[in-house]
Amino acid sequence: MKSPAKRMLSQAQKNFGMYETAARIAAQDPSADIIHLEVGRPSFDTPLHIKEAAKTALDKGIVHYGELNGTFALRDALAQRYRELNRIDVSADEILVTNGVTQAAFSALMTLIDEGDEVIVLDPFYPQHNSKIELLGGKVVTVKLDQARGFSLDAQALDEAVSPATKMIILVNPSNPTGVMYSQKDLLAIRDIAIKHDLYVLSDEVYEFNIYDDNKHISIASLPDMRERTITISAFTKGYAMDGWRIGYAAAPLHFISEMLKVTLNESTHPCIFAQEGAIAAVSGSQDCVKEMVADDKLRRDLIVSRLNAMPGVTCNTPQATIYAFPDFSAWGIESSKLAQDIVEHTHVAVESGCFYGNAGKGHLRICFGSEPYERLEEALDRMEAYLQSLELPLQATATN
Ligand SMILES: Cc1ncc(COP(=O)(O)O)c(C=O)c1O
Repeated sequence: MKSPAKRMLSQAQKNFGMYETAARIAAQDPSADIIHLEVGRPSFDTPLHIKEAAKTALDKGIVHYGELNGTFALRDALAQRYRELNRIDVSADEILVTNGVTQAAFSALMTLIDEGDEVIVLDPFYPQHNSKIELLGGKVVTVKLDQARGFSLDAQALDEAVSPATKMIILVNPSNPTGVMYSQKDLLAIRDIAIKHDLYVLSDEVYEFNIYDDNKHISIASLPDMRERTITISAFTKGYAMDGWRIGYAAAPLHFISEMLKVTLNESTHPCIFAQEGAIAAVSGSQDCVKEMVADDKLRRDLIVSRLNAMPGVTCNTPQATIYAFPDFSAWGIESSKLAQDIVEHTHVAVESGCFYGNAGKGHLRICFGSEPYERLEEALDRMEAYLQSLELPLQATATN
């Protein structure tokens, strides 16, 4: 059995994906004009009133240690929003402020997962959750989403995947990489399975603000009898363009939060105190900035979906949420990590291989449309289209996965 640190090292190697290749190309040729569509980083600057609040905090000398679970003002504002928007009945004490969703996920998993426990993830998945499970000595059990029905839940497959060792289901809703939002029907099916087998649910809702059209986000913890078994995690990362601020949070019954706090305080004491002041401005101030960013992302989403669908051998569903498109290139018959590699080598457009997100991602690429301005995205699509046209390969009639 490897020590946790060694397990972490072997997992960490898996976690860089195509970013590493793009970095190598840039190091070899500093003049290479690389367009980064592989990293899920918002293209916007953090809204001004949020930055001003953090600056004011610094000027006022809010630079010392604070409450271990996060400032009361931030927890209170988040609890209020959870009650009003997500319909999850939590108090300020049932919120834990963390260093991003990453730390919220890690502390939840460390609290609930022991060596040998099984955790079910829906495939395609967000790989960083899996590496945490493995780091803790847990076992990742994948359940394929139904690609033919737009990567929606196969409830029977989920039910059948539960074993006596299963402890938890991880839900990423809205989903990175597919951009799908789980329907109420899907969430009710997950609820029924969680209750039937007495499982916890870790619900990663970091994209809950990056939602397009008239789609409505549903938190699974708001469904009857789910509050008690669900840890909901989210962050300012994607919705407020605050990925570098490292402010996330968890909402869960007090007994979970108290255990998770033991993890976070030993890891990092608490998140940056003046960054939390910025976060208060984000949650309490006008939400127009979020609407504006989503409107801008939507233009890029519409561009990428129409351009990809016009390319030979490519089909792309319209993402309901997130900043990712997950097009199917399987008609080209090229294994997706090779295709992503070929694209970055030949076009200097970095995209992620669908396989990075599990077996169900075979034949797909994940392309972040929210990380570069509209014109750069157009340029990236032009380069990809020209590259595909240069391939003298027959298209296959059926998908490979
Ligand atoms: C589904 C999902 N969860 C968590 C994270 C990490 O969030 P944070 O930067 O707040 O730790 C990401 C980042 O891309 C993500 O896509």
